[in-house]
Amino acid sequence: TPTIREIFDSMAYGPAPEGHAEALAWIGKHGGRFGHWIDGKFTKPGTTFATKNPATGAELAQITQGTADDIDRAVTAARKVQAKWAALGGPGRARVLYALARLVQKHARLFAVLETIDNGKPIRESRDIDVPLVARHFYYHAGLAQLLDSELPGHKALGVCGQVIPWNFPLLMLAWKVAPALAAGNTVVLKPAEYTPLTALLFAEISREAGLPKGVLNIVTGDGETGATLVAHPGVDKVAFTGSTSVGRRIREATAGSGKALTLELGGKSPYIVFDDADLDSAVEGLVDAIWFNQGQVCCAGSRLLVQESVADRFHEKLKRRMDGLRIGDPLDKCIDVGAVVDPVQLATITQMVDSNTAGETYRANTPVPQGCFYPPTLITGLGTADRLMQEEIFGPVLVSMTFRTPSEAVELANNTRYGLAATVWTENVNLALDMAPKLKAGVVWVNATNLFDAAAGFGGIRESGFGREGGWEGLLAYLKAPLLTKPVKTTPAMAAPADPEVTGIDRTAKLYVGGKQARPDGGYSQAIWSPKGKLLGHVGLGNRKDIRNAVEAAHAARGWGKATGHNRAQVIYYIAENLAARGPEFAARLRDLTGKPGEAEVDAAVNRLFTYAAWADKFDGAAKSVPMRGVALAMNEPVGVIGALCPDEAPLLGLVSLMAPAIAMGNAVVLVPSETFPLAATDLYQVLDTSDLPGGVVNIVTGSHSELAKPLAGHMDVDAVWTFSSTPLSALVEKESAANLKRTWVNNGRNPDWFSPSAEGRAFLRAATEVKTIWVPYGE
Ligand code: NAI
Repeated sequence: TPTIREIFDSMAYGPAPEGHAEALAWIGKHGGRFGHWIDGKFTKPGTTFATKNPATGAELAQITQGTADDIDRAVTAARKVQAKWAALGGPGRARVLYALARLVQKHARLFAVLETIDNGKPIRESRDIDVPLVARHFYYHAGLAQLLDSELPGHKALGVCGQVIPWNFPLLMLAWKVAPALAAGNTVVLKPAEYTPLTALLFAEISREAGLPKGVLNIVTGDGETGATLVAHPGVDKVAFTGSTSVGRRIREATAGSGKALTLELGGKSPYIVFDDADLDSAVEGLVDAIWFNQGQVCCAGSRLLVQESVADRFHEKLKRRMDGLRIGDPLDKCIDVGAVVDPVQLATITQMVDSNTAGETYRANTPVPQGCFYPPTLITGLGTADRLMQEEIFGPVLVSMTFRTPSEAVELANNTRYGLAATVWTENVNLALDMAPKLKAGVVWVNATNLFDAAAGFGGIRESGFGREGGWEGLLAYLKAPLLTKPVKTTPAMAAPADPEVTGIDRTAKLYVGGKQARPDGGYSQAIWSPKGKLLGHVGLGNRKDIRNAVEAAHAARGWGKATGHNRAQVIYYIAENLAARGPEFAARLRDLTGKPGEAEVDAAVNRLFTYAAWADKFDGAAKSVPMRGVALAMNEPVGVIGALCPDEAPLLGLVSLMAPAIAMGNAVVLVPSETFPLAATDLYQVLDTSDLPGGVVNIVTGSHSELAKPLAGHMDVDAVWTFSSTPLSALVEKESAANLKRTWVNNGRNPDWFSPSAEGRAFLRAATEVKTIWVPYGE
């Protein structure tokens, strides 16, 4: 008789396949051909393409390629019902979202199986992760809808949302997009990915059972062209996209200047950092979830292993042994760890990327790999930072690895990427983990865990991983209009030189303000500023592209400001306010000279605004989110980084202060381009800033032509956000140029805040000046 040990060693899993008869029956009920879901019913199928089971290659159904007409019909249906859906109120919508959550649970098995056959992911994942998270998302957002009216008074739905989602989590991405949109009172046209449209269609059908009114949710299927048509449709008020960075960039360009709100959740190359004191076995298990979950087709996959040199060999050995134990095969088999890659095209991409790599050493899991659309778990060690596979998203079950010696080297390597989606840290030393978390350039950080998701915790990236958060209140806000009182932008052309100028004989040319010093403009040109009465008030420097570059460099050098305490920043802003107040009459006189109108009220309002943001500097707190697992998710409001802002004419001093103060209160450094017509209100501020203990470079001011300076500012790769409240219509240009590094934008589209209104300060501005970083830490039992 064999010993227990021998039995364990020789034991193999028998196959335990999940049945898929019901899923096929649902497809059969529709004749194997699907139209779109528009205005509460299926349309007749049009020109179709096949969606296949990647594990077998078998065709599952024919799907309609959405045309411009289809998109138009869907947007029209969504538009027609939007006001009524919003008028239902938060509690009314909450009932429907709750019913949707219940129905997802009721049909959980069908959803899971349909997802698995359409996408190729293991049934264990669709059943235990995707579908439960979908239900959780609708429950949570039913709650947000319930509380919305009281917690966010005055906030309004944006209107019709055009949403485009990828194939890696077809139903979960639908939930992430649809739940907050509907909770906020918007209606939706969603385009699922062409490889995986089935669960979206099933969801749409089931939504009627939940009492979702016709037209509130519309699904138009098709490929990238259908997606492009949707995002370009003029009836769409908000675009939300998850997918590749290259398509995200195209969408940014396509929607530039349209006035559409936009959030982008794009790719990543997320670091997975293992310190020598980590629980190595847990870290290995974590990696199974980080890079072999969903065949590595996860935007936040921990695809870049950084392991401390002293344990690297041991860790790689353990990892290889674990890889050999992974079972790859039929996704419907409940014992399978790694399923099928979504499509032969994706398989070819993965294969090509790995095969073209000659650096390092490649280890493929020693485990049987079935014929077809399967790729073995792979580890590539010994790469350098410049190697293509260290930088580019593979989007497959391929882990690349490097070693580091010190925590600071780990940070440097981790941040050596154009992306910034997620990061994982393994160490038993809580001090080290919490020291690392703020230093990692990522929207999400997991400590001693990985790939944790929850509806309460914001998810999303920075840098070329996109902008905007999904989940939590921050995710809901991306579907709401803040109550900001606005007016059409007032254009005030500069005063022309009078025929018979009154010349004072004094040449006073205000310079630029860069790095805490007055700087001559690079081009050496200046411009005369005349009062409405024809008096020469002075000259201002005309900044150019080079001056913008210098200012951005100075702002970068001042990023230590972001690490100053809120208390410290508050003191500096109070000091600015005090110094401005002390020179109030002088500033008021200047404003009168410039604009011909009394300036006292504006100076008072500017001083008050500074006091407001000094107050906020240590009060715009983050949150600790309750997540249904052993931990908390900290939502930290971090500075965006370097913010460029084109300032308004309407209130040349107050407008500039309204943008500068929230930005610096939150720890950003700024490059300000003051009102082109009334720049002297800003240049007078240099001395106030100089005498207020503000570190040089935190505020930089470049005067000159807005239309000339907007482009270099918005296109600059080291600027993290750009705002325009200029009188020159620059929204389209700014948004288009921002696509270069996918920086965040805030543009006026022809309407500026009423700068004197209390709505022109506070949370909306603070949110624009911060980025939520979600840090998951173990907590409690
Ligand atoms: P993709 O970004 O092309 O597709 C995502 C969605 O966008 C699909 O629904 C597609 O039909 C749609 N789309 C494509 N072009 C569009 C356009 N011009 N305008 C509007 N919508 C458009 O991603 P794809 O081609 O499926 O995968 C390619 C690579 O993208 C993957 O290998 C992976 O690296 C990355 N990717 C990243 C994802 C993420 O979650 N970050 C998800 C999917 C893919």
